[in-house]
Amino acid sequence: MEASGVLIRRLRAEDIPQAMRLKDAAGWNQTDQDWLNLIELEPEGCFALETDGQVVSTTTVVCYGRDLAWIGMVLTAPEYRGRGFARRLMQEALAYARAREVAWIKLDATDMGRPLYQSLGFQDEQIVERWALEPRQAPTCAPEVSPFVLDEELDRLAFGASRRAVLERLARWEAVSLPGCGYAMGRPGSQAFYFGPCVCRTVDSARRLLEYFLARHAAETIFWDLLHSNPAALELARRFGFQPRRRLVRMSLRGREDAQPLGNRDELVYALAGFEYG
Ligand SMILES: CC(C)(COP(=O)(O)OP(=O)(O)OC[C@H]1O[C@@H](n2cnc3c(N)ncnc32)[C@H](O)[C@@H]1OP(=O)(O)O)[C@@H](O)C(=O)NCCC(=O)NCCS
Repeated sequence: MEASGVLIRRLRAEDIPQAMRLKDAAGWNQTDQDWLNLIELEPEGCFALETDGQVVSTTTVVCYGRDLAWIGMVLTAPEYRGRGFARRLMQEALAYARAREVAWIKLDATDMGRPLYQSLGFQDEQIVERWALEPRQAPTCAPEVSPFVLDEELDRLAFGASRRAVLERLARWEAVSLPGCGYAMGRPGSQAFYFGPCVCRTVDSARRLLEYFLARHAAETIFWDLLHSNPAALELARRFGFQPRRRLVRMSLRGREDAQPLGNRDELVYALAGFEYG
């Protein structure tokens, strides 16, 4: 603990109730389980800033090998904002990624977070959006799908880095495949059911997977985060009655001098895994 009474340390499972308060103050959709997933996936990469005996700021990192580190859950309690806490945790997160010699560091920035990331050297990549669908009448039948099988080659092609560990974990909730064509997953949220990630070779497979989830969750609001660079995904969202809710900016920072572009194929990405995962 510094003389100023500020302690930066690992975020732990016992901190989740306090982390949830920060998340709720920002109006986000994550659950206790989402925090636990991040902590278990990257125990050394989740940071908390403690002062006055409580966690008032958080930041998480998920590393996809040495290709990519994804930063998320950058939150400061409203009454502690403007004291440089998020900046300090971002610096921890960047040091963590750089110590692992990760080529790229990326995140999805809100309007509130973007000036901080810009000042740290992050550059805009593209717009990402959250779309939402309100509860509706259940359709009479859902399309047939297969149990989830990890198609690592397809996912890597789409995302530009291997995210096996994250996908295996998120597949514990709802995950289905159309073999050879793509997969989709979903998980509960505190405000709405979350559709994603979804990676498909064709828009028709994405539509079938989406219809499967819409049929199963007709009574719930559904959130779907997508990339502006995939117009087919945006068109699908529109066609099924989703409405845009939030707009963020995907930003990136070179982690290593010799970093080459990841070569991600956004046209295969129909739904993000979450703003905290990419
Ligand atoms: C974004 C957020 C995490 C910033 O937390 P914070 O602890 O207040 O941030 P800091 O005090 O470290 O400030 C970092 C930068 O943010 C900007 N900033 C902070 N407070 C600001 C204010 N009141 N007005 C304008 N810019 C401000 C400044 O660029 C600041 O840079 P500086 O250090 O050069 O002044 C916080 O506002 C928050 O939790 N917002 C809601 C959740 C969210 O949108 N998170 C970002 C997700 S990408």
